Amino acid sequence: MSQDSITIQALELENVKRIRTVTLTPTANGLTVIGGRNGQGKTSVLDAIAWALGGDRFKPSNPGRDEAAAPPYLKITLSNGLIVERKGLNGNLKVTDPTGQSAGQTLLNKFVETLALNLPRFMQAGTKEKAKTLLRILGVEEELTQLEKQELSIYSQRHSIGQIADQKRKYADEMPNYPDAPTDLLSVSELINRQQSILAQNGENQRKRQQLSLYQTQLTDVQAKLTELHRQEAELQESIRLAQMSAQDLVDQSTAAIEQDIANIEEINRRVRANLDKERAKEDAENYGQQYQNLSGNLDETRERIRALLEGANLPLPGLTIKDGELTYLGQPWDCMSGSDKLKVATAIVRKLNPNCGFVLLDKLEQMDTQTLAEFGAWLKTEGLQCIATRVSSGGECSIIIEDGLVADSATTESAAQTSFTTGVF
Ligand SMILES: Nc1ncnc2c1ncn2[C@@H]1O[C@H](COP(=O)(O)OP(=O)(O)OP(=O)(O)O)[C@@H](O)[C@H]1O
Ligand SMILES: [Mg+2]
Repeated sequence: MSQDSITIQALELENVKRIRTVTLTPTANGLTVIGGRNGQGKTSVLDAIAWALGGDRFKPSNPGRDEAAAPPYLKITLSNGLIVERKGLNGNLKVTDPTGQSAGQTLLNKFVETLALNLPRFMQAGTKEKAKTLLRILGVEEELTQLEKQELSIYSQRHSIGQIADQKRKYADEMPNYPDAPTDLLSVSELINRQQSILAQNGENQRKRQQLSLYQTQLTDVQAKLTELHRQEAELQESIRLAQMSAQDLVDQSTAAIEQDIANIEEINRRVRANLDKERAKEDAENYGQQYQNLSGNLDETRERIRALLEGANLPLPGLTIKDGELTYLGQPWDCMSGSDKLKVATAIVRKLNPNCGFVLLDKLEQMDTQTLAEFGAWLKTEGLQCIATRVSSGGECSIIIEDGLVADSATTESAAQTSFTTGVF
């Protein structure tokens, strides 16, 4: 048991609700079961403890036993030596510490955890509130809220980007494509330049041809005067030979293709533009697809951080964690846990809320079978937690039996308790 944990050492109750007189020395560590039939005063004992330690907030609306001659009296001795007494219908408080000094409710509140006195309040809280209580204990509430906000924002961002990416992809797919169109837009001026350069070349060719014909004409003239002009003839023949050589490889180029392109320039350019547009649309879609991928990565990373944060936190019960803002125990959310698992989870959480508070009150343990009850008792011991519980039963698991507001014949109870001790269950 933790040194700071305060437990209930003894209690004496008189004339509270259904109680006539009940004295009880609960087990310091583990489970004390108050048994008895319905309506005998079991819950009245827990209510009296809650009133004694919790004060006015826990005062029953009809605190004094009807027909009792004396007013209520409650006395609880705590493990740190404090004696808490309340007297009268108003429950006037007297707290005496071991050195004999008196103190008040404020001191009690330091080590009494409200939820330990009123576990049903925790059990009835909403799923989010339960998870919040646990996160508060773990000290990760703020960081988790931050991460969850981030997760939500990345998620919705990724969702919109995903939608845009889909639309863009569809749009790009539906756009026309002309595989035979040139890659770049045609330019009229460039085509005209090319045409002019070919025409210029052809003009030059024409000029060379005219030169050849001139030489031939001269030859005809000269041949008439050939005899005396042999030397000139030889020269001219040589010139002719050279001119022939330079003319023989000349080929005229056709401008038909360019003329064709000029005629079709509108259509060709429309196709080129369409191809460029499609290319851009595809890139756009890919870009959005890539953004979607990146956001998915961020989302996974954030979720992993949330998981690691909770895994690294010191959870009060193995198997207990928080998933999507809700408590889960052994993988089950609160509404799917068995009644006894709920009690265990609630007790473990309340235990951690105020480590100074070493006890918890549990009403109606009927929902646990005796084996579960024994396991619960053993778990409480390992937790160093004192639990005072009620159960409609008169079996050996009960530490005392309440009958008509009194502790029933102690002989039967003790022998029953003895039996369970020897079997080693409790
Ligand atoms: N101030 C009071 N004076 C006298 N009797 C009271 C007073 N308050 C409650 N009772 C009676 O006490 C009984 C309930 O007591 P309590 O709740 O302690 O019983 P219980 O043993 O827990 O019963 P159950 O097993 O049904 O939960 C009821 O019969 C109720 O009428
Ligand atoms: Mg009851």
